[in-house]
Amino acid sequence: MDVKAFIFDLDGVITDTAEHHYQAWGLLARELGIPFDRTFNERLKGIDRMQSLELILERGGMRDRLSRSEKEAMAGRKNDHYTQLIEGITPDHLLPGIAELLRDVREAGMRIGLASASRNAGTILAKLQIGHYFDTVVDPALLAKGKPDPEIFLKAAADLKATPACCVGVEDAEAGIRAIRGAGMFAVGVGTPEAMKEADLIVTGTAELNFEKIVELYRIKSKV
Ligand code: BG6
Ligand code: MG
Repeated sequence: MDVKAFIFDLDGVITDTAEHHYQAWGLLARELGIPFDRTFNERLKGIDRMQSLELILERGGMRDRLSRSEKEAMAGRKNDHYTQLIEGITPDHLLPGIAELLRDVREAGMRIGLASASRNAGTILAKLQIGHYFDTVVDPALLAKGKPDPEIFLKAAADLKATPACCVGVEDAEAGIRAIRGAGMFAVGVGTPEAMKEADLIVTGTAELNFEKIVELYRIKSKV
């Protein structure tokens, strides 16, 4: 068995938009008078927009007081903040090591997929000018369940015609690592050893992502 495909998360892996999501939720939380910090934000990583809002509202004791349309308006306001924050993204905003990794995966003849919960993913790939690398970009609007459910990674693998056990998933969110493992894939985690503890390989930053090292460890682990 060997690696056939790499499936990437976007926010916090390919570019630092995890930070923009954090800033945008912070602006909305302040408007609502709900406390918000980086520790709490960890729980929102990988989680879709409406579910993230529900978690924030729950924290503020507001979850059951609002109608669906009020919540939709709030989620829309967060997205307005986010859209403004990502306006200036250019190819220079690729995180370190990502351009090299995409190139190495492609040169090795492997397939590449994107498994992001973000409905802004297409816009961001276009701004980064890396859309051509991706053989599939899963549309999160078509999925029944979000991360940590494995559905998004399984859909990417099916699109790529790769068996899940031959796929490497790259994530920065706890929910994402759980989704990759649940899909039966090899999980590469970008983040703290604590947050990424369920990953097969942990790096503290994307600059440490190395194609040869990942494939070598995959081969060792798939033999045992
Ligand atoms: C994920 C992010 O990739 O996308 C989450 O980790 C974000 O923080 C989610 O909430 C949904 O993004 P969007 O752009 O559809 O609001
Ligand atoms: Mg992420």
